Formats: sequence, structure tokens, C-alpha cells
Amino acid sequence: MKHVIQSIRATFESELHLCKQANDLEALRVRYLGKKGLVQEQLKSLRDVPEAEKPLVGKLINELKKEIEERLDAAISACSHLQLQDKMAKEALDVTLPGRRSNVGSKHPVTQMLDEITDIFVSMGFSVALGPEIESEYYNFDVLNISPDHPARDMQDTFYVAPGMVLRTHTSNSQGRVMENANPPIRIICPGRVFRNETIDASHHVFFHQVEGLYVDENVSMQDLLSTLSEFVRRLFKKDVEVRLRSSYFPFVEPGVELDMSCLLCEGKGCATCKHTGWIEVLGAGMVHPQVLRNVGLDPEKYTGYAWGLGVERMVALRSGIRDIRLFAENDMRFLSQFYAV
Ligand code: PHE
Repeated sequence: MKHVIQSIRATFESELHLCKQANDLEALRVRYLGKKGLVQEQLKSLRDVPEAEKPLVGKLINELKKEIEERLDAAISACSHLQLQDKMAKEALDVTLPGRRSNVGSKHPVTQMLDEITDIFVSMGFSVALGPEIESEYYNFDVLNISPDHPARDMQDTFYVAPGMVLRTHTSNSQGRVMENANPPIRIICPGRVFRNETIDASHHVFFHQVEGLYVDENVSMQDLLSTLSEFVRRLFKKDVEVRLRSSYFPFVEPGVELDMSCLLCEGKGCATCKHTGWIEVLGAGMVHPQVLRNVGLDPEKYTGYAWGLGVERMVALRSGIRDIRLFAENDMRFLSQFYAV
């Protein structure tokens, strides 16, 4: 009997050494100390031990039981300690590591430019009037003196979306809407998106942005147009640039002009950017055509007005030296992040 107890002790020891984790130890506990375990078996077989030896053998079995319990307890607590250490090592946080920065959004360069242009004109007393992007042919063309057979309808390749409806080809669509509903003095700008059915390349896109301007009152003159727009250009480009008017044609203004400014890069001396002319084309403008005033019920004998339309992408391109306007529509963060406003 003693030998049996000895050998159980020895096997237990060697099995204990093989245990790697808490599960193994638990299995070992059940096998030795469980109800049907080895120790219990020994206690049962005590019945067959001669009466005289019973106390001693009983004592030995109890000692074995106690020893196994102690050994297992120690092993279990060592194991859970190890497991804890292991877990802590795996989940360790290096609090000295720099944190990850989150990306802060910023306005698109075209939106920034729209805001800036709006601010300048609002400070001069203009208010903002928005027009629809899906527009009737009437407001996009007819009211502006562009009859259906007018060659200007071909000049601006138009997206027709339904009979009589177009995607506005210019922000001039706001002119008729505003003049129909207000009495002079009328002083508005209309910033917004316009659409043209063009082949996309470095200087053309199917959509871009314009800021329309309209001032109608008694005695509005070409001189007013020139002084307002030259002040605008100087404020926007933060430079004392020269401006000039060049005669041009738009059906809804008479006379029609194009406003140029002295080249920002060469200051008028001539370079590749200004095609060696010293001048850069900025916007189209003119005095509101008497027929347009009549179309909206205003008396051209009493009122005169000026209007302009400028391209917003073009302003950003001029100011930041961008040669490909497709970049504005591509959402490439490498491009856009260069315009993050501080
Ligand atoms: N609507 C014209 C264009 O898109 C620009 C313009 C506006 C010209 C107002 C004169 C007056 O080209």
C-alpha cells in the first residue's frame, strides 16, 4: 500500500511538471482529487487494509491528499500570475507614443474663393441672390436677349435636361429673376455652379463656378463698372494691378467688354503666362442691354445698369498658378491640402 501511495505521489509530480496552463492543472486536480479520483480510490481501498495498519495508511493517504492539494494550489496561483503577466505584456500601452492626429477638414479652394469674392462685394453693398442650377430656357437665354436661333446658344454648349429646361450655362440666369421682382436700385451678386457640354481638358470642364454681378439704377455708367471691378481685382489679388477694358460681345450687354488686368507674374512686361501680352483676361462684363431691361419691365430710358460674370476656378488658378482646372474636380487630397486655411 505504501508503495502504491509513493508511486501516485511520483506520477503526480511528473505530471505536474508537464502542465502548461490552467486547464491542464484543473484536469490534473480532477484526476487526483475528484470524487472518482486516485486519492479517493485509495481511501476506498482502505477497507481492505488490515485493521492494525489502517491508521498509518490512512494517515499516509491524507498526507498525500494534502500535499497534492498544496502543490496544485501553488501551481494554480503561479500559473494565473504568469498568465496575468503575459496578458499585461501583450496589452501594454506605451503612453509615451505620440497620438494619432485626426484629419481636420477644410473648405475646397473654390469654396474659399467664392467666400472671399462674396465678402469683397458684400462689403461694397451688394447682396447675394442665388438662382437655380436647373433652369428654364427663358431665364438662361430668352430674357437675356438670346433668342432660340441666336448663334450664342451654340457658343455655350448646353445640357438640355427636359423640353425647355437646361442646366444653367451661366449665372446670368439670376439677372432676369432678380430684375423681375425688384425695383432699382438693384445691387446683387450670384455665386454658383454652371454647366457646359464641353470636352474636358486642362482649361475646360463640364461644370465650373461663376460669380455674376448686377447693378441697376438711375445713371449707372461704364465708369462705375470700371471703378467697382478694378477695386475688386486689387482687393482679391492684394496688388495694385492695372486694369483695362477691351471690347467684346455678349447678347445681353451693350457695349460688351472683357476686363483684363496686368499680368501678376511679369507685371506687364510679357511672359508665358500672359502669352507675352502683359495682360490677363479676368472676366466678361458690360452695360445691361436695353432689351433685357424691357424684357423684365424696367424702363431703359430711366434706368441703366452694368453686369459682369467671372470664373471662380480661373481666379484660383491665376492666384495660385494652377495650370490644369481638372484638379478642382478630382478630390485629390495632395492637391486640396495645399489650400488648407489656417
Ligand atoms: N454670362 C457670361 C459668360 O458666361 C459672362 C457675362 C456676364 C458677360 C454678365 C457680361 C455680363 O460668359
